[in-house]
Amino acid sequence: MNHWLSFRDHAPSQLASLITLARGLKSREPAAVAAARGAIRDQILGLIFFNASLRTRVSFEAAMIRFGGQAICLDVGGSTWNLEHRDGAVMNADKAEHIKEAAPVLSRYCDALAVRTFAGLKSASEDAADALIRAFARHSTVPLLNMESALEHPCQALADWMTVEERFGTARGRRFVLTWAPQAKAVPMAVPHSAALAAAAAGMHLTIAHPPGYDLNPAILDQARSWCAEHGTRFQITHEQLDACVDAEVVYVKSWGSAALYGQTETQLEDFKRYAGWMVDTRHLRTPDTILMHCLPVRRNVVISDAALDDPRCVVVDQAENRLWTQAAVLTRVFKQRTDSRGS
Ligand code: CP
Repeated sequence: MNHWLSFRDHAPSQLASLITLARGLKSREPAAVAAARGAIRDQILGLIFFNASLRTRVSFEAAMIRFGGQAICLDVGGSTWNLEHRDGAVMNADKAEHIKEAAPVLSRYCDALAVRTFAGLKSASEDAADALIRAFARHSTVPLLNMESALEHPCQALADWMTVEERFGTARGRRFVLTWAPQAKAVPMAVPHSAALAAAAAGMHLTIAHPPGYDLNPAILDQARSWCAEHGTRFQITHEQLDACVDAEVVYVKSWGSAALYGQTETQLEDFKRYAGWMVDTRHLRTPDTILMHCLPVRRNVVISDAALDDPRCVVVDQAENRLWTQAAVLTRVFKQRTDSRGS
């Protein structure tokens, strides 16, 4: 099954070809639009949300509608049953249906499914296993797309890569700094993981700045390091945020929780306060051409200051728009592959 779950399932060149298609769709190139219409027309995409969303939900729906398909949205635990994913669970609490039934049933109605499920933030090892989306993938009989899981947000990463390409002509060789920022609540690592993977896959120099104790997943870092080595670009991790930003062309901001403080809500909040000075401001944008990125939603004056978010160098709305075009590119590939494989 050609699921779309992780950047790590693809070679950088395959990911780059999606960026090319997405840019073609955005600029209304006839060949790109014809490819998207040919693949997406008359297809039904089931969108399954375990968490709230603004951009992911609307950009997927808009991509399907724009190119002639349709989307059906389910809010798990709201408009539909709470879903269990653990094998062998005794379902005597709040979860009325198991993914073992729900995924194949939804597969009979839809041509592809997409799932949004955040990290549980209770156990770092459980979240690293990405158990819920992996269970969906095992039991779905149609392609499954990752709309953000415990470990990765690959659709966001494609949009981020495209945004850098638009701004600079090419992402290759650009200096990309992923910086940690404080938060008002515990938050997952999926976006910083995917931002690091995208920067490395795109051939950028990658610096990750975070306070001590906020290390990202080792397997993700290994993949990013390996792609940087393939491209001959720099990979480094530092605890010095301002130094990291000195020659940055891209300052990518994201909050994430400490693996050491997983599940310790109060202690985590105290630690965020301890590093409140890591909030990103215009002083982190060191040149007139440096761009500021964040996946949104963003807490103003906690994660990034008003001045930085309102600065013309801030490209967060472009990033959000590019979710539409990059996801249309992914949907084009996924539906085309499915149609081709059914025809052969
Ligand atoms: N960036 C992102 O995934 O936004 P939503 O949570 O609003 O979908």
